[in-house]
This record gives sequence, structure tokens and C-alpha cells, in this order.
Amino acid sequence: MEKVRVGIIGIGIGRVHLAAYKKHPKAEVLALCDLREEETRELAEEYGVPYVFTDYEKMLEIEELDAVSVCTPNYLHMPMTVAALEAGKHVLCEKPPARNVREVEKMMEAVKRTGKKYMTALVQRFSAEGSYLRRMAEDGFFGEIYSAVALWRRRKGIPGMGGWFTQKSKAGGGPVIDIGVHILDLLLYIMGYPKAVSVSAETYAKFGPFGEGAGEWGIAEPGGKFDVEDFANALIRLENGATILLQTSWASHVPEEKLGASIQGTKAGVEWPPLRLFTDINRRPADIVPYLPPTDAFYAEISHFIECILEDKEPIPNIEQAIAIQTILDAIYKSAEKHKEVKIG
Ligand SMILES: NC(=O)c1ccc[n+]([C@@H]2O[C@H](COP(=O)([O-])OP(=O)(O)OC[C@H]3O[C@@H](n4cnc5c(N)ncnc54)[C@H](O)[C@@H]3O)[C@@H](O)[C@H]2O)c1
Repeated sequence: MEKVRVGIIGIGIGRVHLAAYKKHPKAEVLALCDLREEETRELAEEYGVPYVFTDYEKMLEIEELDAVSVCTPNYLHMPMTVAALEAGKHVLCEKPPARNVREVEKMMEAVKRTGKKYMTALVQRFSAEGSYLRRMAEDGFFGEIYSAVALWRRRKGIPGMGGWFTQKSKAGGGPVIDIGVHILDLLLYIMGYPKAVSVSAETYAKFGPFGEGAGEWGIAEPGGKFDVEDFANALIRLENGATILLQTSWASHVPEEKLGASIQGTKAGVEWPPLRLFTDINRRPADIVPYLPPTDAFYAEISHFIECILEDKEPIPNIEQAIAIQTILDAIYKSAEKHKEVKIG
């Protein structure tokens, strides 16, 4: 196989996948699929994509298709991933893996049954900071990492108010499952993915239920339901004794949007943004400011997926890690519901 022939389902974030595949010399986008037929046709014309579908099962019948990007609302991740794998396609599926771990287990069964590649699109791993810090941790720069603080907070950034994003039955939850998942996964990746053993969390909904705090992203449905959280705090205990504190919001009285973290290790720490490393040099505290080249994280993510297919490698956010992260997301919601710590495993 010289080129990977791809189909994309969903043209929201799917159009970002499309732009990245189009730039890749070893990828060819054969088909787009979305219920919004006219917009999909226009997009296909703009990017020179030969086939357009509104029914993804019909798209999966194309034999020459090697791989599929699943870029649809969370409740469709499991059925579409399973159907694509069963049709013999490799799958890159958007985050979160699904709405809950039972769905991800069904995806795992399909991965094992078919032997096809599955990768969760956790794009923060491919950001400049993400790949750099993972290498630093692997090289032992931080020593033992025993603590981390993860933040993705928005002031007014509820996506698609009233649409699928804000409905528990379709999304599985609010900012925890939507954006918290990115930074939590990144920290676990940097730390070497230790297993989580317990979670203590609370979630709140102080703006969304009153129609306040809407952002620009997503397709809003005026008058639609809001029954997810818009803010959450969580403490995650890991099997190696390390802890992660997560705070995430779609809407809250905070300064500008912040996506970042800090990590504390025995030899060094790090905080971003802006990226700064903290250590001791000659027994004196010293700050280091690394200069990283600008990175197109989506292109890097898609390149990894293509490389895994062509060179038969295991994708780095694989199905086992999809189970691990989804287990933590489920535990956050369970703990918040019970107002007490919950054990995992
Ligand atoms: N990695 C990231 O940074 C990032 C950013 C945004 C969204 N996402 C994820 O991507 C997924 C999609 O989010 P979005 O923001 O693009 O949502 P969106 O609502 O903007 O787009 C979803 C698209 O899926 C289409 N769709 C719905 N049902 C369909 C069906 N049965 N068949 C074909 N198409 C169908 C819709 O018409 C819509 O165009 C979500 O899981 C979200 O969490 C990831």
C-alpha cells in the first residue's frame, strides 16, 4: 500500500482532519459523509474529494477505502467505530473515546476481532509541548513525577448550547469529557500512563442550565436541553502514589481561557503556558525556557495514524489507553454523583 485512502464521517472538526490529510503525501481522501449534504458537497468540491455520502454504512461499502476518521458526536463514536472496523477499515476516532467505558469495551472487542488499527484522536499529545515533555520525562529529566495539576478552563465557552454537546444522553457529560479529557490524557501520557486507583470529584452546572456561558464552537439548538456539568474539580490517585488535580470549565468567572498544566518531579518541574522548566543548578533554583518550533498538532496526529497503518505500528493513544482514560472519566462522574471518593478496578 503506497497511500492510505481515507473517508471522513462528520464535517465539524472533520474538516480539520480533511485539511491535514490533504497535506499528507501518503494520504488520499476518497469520501466525506455527513447528514448536512449540501455543505458536505461544497467541502468535497473545495478539496477535490470524489465521493459524498449521507449514510456512513454506504460509505463503508467502498472497498478501496483503507481508513476512516470518525468525527461525529460522542454517542456515535462506538457504533461508527465498530462498523468501520467490521468493514475492514482502520479507525481514527475523535475524543472522548465514547460516552462511557461499556461502549469503549465494545470498541476494544471489535479491534481485537478485526486486527485493524484504532487510534483515539487525542491531539494534545501531538502539540509542541506534549511531545517535548513526554521525551523529557522518558529521559528522566523530571526524576520521579509525583504530582500534576491539569487545567482547561473557559470563561464563556459552552459549545453547541442546547445541541448534542449539552445533552448527557448524547455527549456523556460536559467539560470533563469534552476538554478535561485532553489535558488529563496528556499528563498521564507524560507520566507513562500509571493506572488510576481512585477518584474524588464534584461537578457543577451554574450557567448552562440558565442559557448563559455560550461559546462560539458547535451547532447551537435554541431551547435545547442542558443537563451536563459546566465546571468540575477532580483529584485522581494513581497506583504509583502520584496524584493529578484537574479543574475544567466551559463557563466560570475566570480570566481568559487557559489550557495548561504543571508537573512536579523530584529533579525538576514544569508549568505551561508559557512553557517554563524549574530545577536546581549548582544547588540554586533555576528556570529554563525551552523554545519549541511551531507545530501543527492535527497534522502530526494524522501523520502518526498514517505511519501506523503503513508501517504496521501500534498507535500511541491505542484502545487500552482509551479504556484507561474513559474509566477515569466515568469515575469522575460517579464520584460527583455520590459526593464521595470512588475506587477504580
Ligand atoms: N480534537 C479536538 O480538538 C476536537 C475539537 C472539536 C470536537 N472534537 C470532537 O469531535 C467530535 C465532533 O465534534 P464537532 O465539534 O465536530 O461537532 P459538530 O456538531 O460541529 O459536528 C458533528 C458533525 O457530525 C454530523 N453528524 C451527526 N450525525 C451524523 C450521522 N449519523 N452521520 C453522518 N454525520 C453525522 C453532523 O451533521 C455534524 O456536521 C466530538 O466527539 C468532539 O468531542 C474534537
